[in-house]
Amino acid sequence: METDLKEFIAGLPKAELHVHVEGTLEPDLEFACAQRNHIDIGAKTVSDIDHSYGYGLEEFLKAYYTGMKVLRTEQDFYDLTWAYLQKMAHSSVKHVELFFDPQAHTSRGVSFAAVITGIHRAIVDARALGVDTQLIMCFLRDFSKESAWQTLLAAEPYREKGWLTGVGLDSAEHHNPPLKFMLVFAKAKSLGYQLTMHCDPRQVDSVAHIKEALEVIEVDRLDHGTNITEDPDLLDYLLKQDLGITVCPIAYYYTRQNMELTAIKELFARGAKVSLNSDDPAYKGDTYINDVYYRFAQEAHWGKDELAQIAKNSFTSSWLSVEAKKAYLKQVDDYVKANN
Ligand code: HPA
Ligand code: ZN
Repeated sequence: METDLKEFIAGLPKAELHVHVEGTLEPDLEFACAQRNHIDIGAKTVSDIDHSYGYGLEEFLKAYYTGMKVLRTEQDFYDLTWAYLQKMAHSSVKHVELFFDPQAHTSRGVSFAAVITGIHRAIVDARALGVDTQLIMCFLRDFSKESAWQTLLAAEPYREKGWLTGVGLDSAEHHNPPLKFMLVFAKAKSLGYQLTMHCDPRQVDSVAHIKEALEVIEVDRLDHGTNITEDPDLLDYLLKQDLGITVCPIAYYYTRQNMELTAIKELFARGAKVSLNSDDPAYKGDTYINDVYYRFAQEAHWGKDELAQIAKNSFTSSWLSVEAKKAYLKQVDDYVKANN
């Protein structure tokens, strides 16, 4: 019975909409990059690298920003992205909307060009594996709005080439509300970017931040945002707008020992376009998307029907074309018919 559900998940066509490429940096590549870039990370072997951290978002972020310091060259960003996309090709992930954090690298003296060119080359190569990827550039909310503006400007040549689909907002949330970036997001919208934004679970002002993201920024999708269930009117608004909401229950478990099961089940039961995602798998117990589906299904007592609906939500709330969405939804339906 258990193997059956695992097998079902392994073959289920799905999209991943909430994953940070830097959060997929596994210790083996981290070690290799440190060696070839001559960076001392205090590890003599791969097994000396420790991705554990204390409780909460800020503690996780410390480990996340420390790990990525080994990424310096275009090749590093290629290898990072390629390793993740290869895994997705073997996980029946057909489509990825991938976050990256340019300011976390440009602030260390790495050029924007090296970061985005390395990532983009791997995206192009992964198309041959059947994985289609779009890129979402996140602004670090604990950096200044001027820095976000500079990043938007630096991205222009690459947006013009069609390498970028959306902009997002991540990093430390306390005292860094969506409103701080209102004008940058308005400009991004006018340039044709899709908009999304993190509203991490259980932050100070979580509900206020969700409200700003939905009503002021007018995001096209919401990342995390599970505290929306505390405000029935706001939840009604999300449902009326039919907005996607990307949740990462196993990531929450690793940062806070709580999967936000009640909120996620409520969102699902109300018909919200909720999708299950990994967030930062190399820092969240090596839990890639199929493990997330399986572990959450066990916790929620979900079976194939619910997971098939989640997979459908992942496509309907993606930024794919109407035709592509239709084709992927048919793939899910055909798969369910053949495997029920
Ligand atoms: N929240 C905020 N910032 C992040 C996250 C997250 O889950 N992952 C990487 N940067
Ligand atoms: Zn995230």
